[in-house]
Amino acid sequence: MNNSLTPSRRALKGKNIIIGICGGIAAYKTPQLVRLLKKKGADVRVALTESGSRFVSELSLATVSQAQVYRSIFPPAENPGTDFTTHITLGEWADALVIAPATANTLARLAAGFCDDMLATCFITLRPGKPVLIFPAMDGQMYLSPSVQRNLATLKALGAIIIEPESGELASGQCGTGRMPEPEAIAAHIESALLSMDCPSVLRGRSIVITAGPTREKIDDVRFISNYSSGKMGFAIAGAAAERGANVTLIAGPVNLDTPHGVERINVESAAQMREAAGNFFRSCDIFIGAAAVADYRPAAVIPGKLKKNDPEIQFTLVKNPDILSDFGLQKQTGQLAVGFALEQDNGPANARKKLEEKNLDLVALNFSDRKTSGFEVDTNMLTLIERGGITTELPLLSKEEAARKLLDTIENICRQT
Ligand code: CTP
Repeated sequence: MNNSLTPSRRALKGKNIIIGICGGIAAYKTPQLVRLLKKKGADVRVALTESGSRFVSELSLATVSQAQVYRSIFPPAENPGTDFTTHITLGEWADALVIAPATANTLARLAAGFCDDMLATCFITLRPGKPVLIFPAMDGQMYLSPSVQRNLATLKALGAIIIEPESGELASGQCGTGRMPEPEAIAAHIESALLSMDCPSVLRGRSIVITAGPTREKIDDVRFISNYSSGKMGFAIAGAAAERGANVTLIAGPVNLDTPHGVERINVESAAQMREAAGNFFRSCDIFIGAAAVADYRPAAVIPGKLKKNDPEIQFTLVKNPDILSDFGLQKQTGQLAVGFALEQDNGPANARKKLEEKNLDLVALNFSDRKTSGFEVDTNMLTLIERGGITTELPLLSKEEAARKLLDTIENICRQT
């Protein structure tokens, strides 16, 4: 078996993708996107709008896609008797329609149901259930305008996946939100969307809230108490859950990790901030997963400014932080699931079961940290999954991504039974 291809890298193999290109400066990145998708094994066709053709040439796109580029829904004037049905068959052919860059004008046309060129027609003729990914890219003020936001909301309600543009320098030279993501990031979004179509999961459409990473508890304005957590396990769970179609919110302490595709991220620093952010989802989420290494204690008072080293010895009083997972577990309603981790050095199974009982969890993942193979900072982890009913599954040492998938498999089983 070839393990060098991760599931997401296989997602595009043999898939038919239409790239709809509109008239924005970001269109210059699209030949590179087409090449990348082809390299990943996809069959790509391009639907280019009239304005799009001013930014990127039809010839370039035809060359990299190795196929005809579609613009009008009518056959070419020089060959009128050729094909009258492409405007229907192209949409039917596709496994996904990707509109990148999507301009304000095209968003309006799609939201209103226009069929005046091949791109807009494909949006309507795409088979039900096939993903439409829209990458708006435009000037920051235009993006935020009420009409653009209204059209995006309409398209989202129609089932399109809207990927927020990135912030940074825009064509105007000003900074703002409106940049199209790079081709690699677009490809990853397409892979995630295809994966969640390919393997319908019971997690699809469920709202999952995950805490991840360490917290920092301030001593003074320049120092804090924290731990070695890298956030990798929580981020891996978030990415895997999004790949299964869940609506994932990741509440992350200070970590140096990219947000997994399709995941909403809320950055926090302290346990109190993490508790506050998490509390906003306690009533609405379907599944709460506590993967953060929340600092159990914080200094009773933060020293203003920078503490000087005048004294030979100093003492701090530490007070207990809220237990976020326990707060959720003890107030969860029927149908909500609470999943936690138990980081134990001794008496692992007994301590993990105690946490499961005391925090009213449905599942606890027992692990330990030697910071070499398992636990904090490293890329692998060895989990023992203990379910409320007592079923215990000892997993081998796995990559955190693979361990995350096994954890989600177990959560899926629990969901199916409840
Ligand atoms: N947790 C939490 N809030 C805290 C402490 C822990 O949400 N203030 C969550 C963690 O995210 C994890 C679980 O509770 O899912 C267990 O964390 P762990 O550090 O193993 O144990 P603690 O409950 O902190 O207990 P102890 O440190 O005494 O083992």
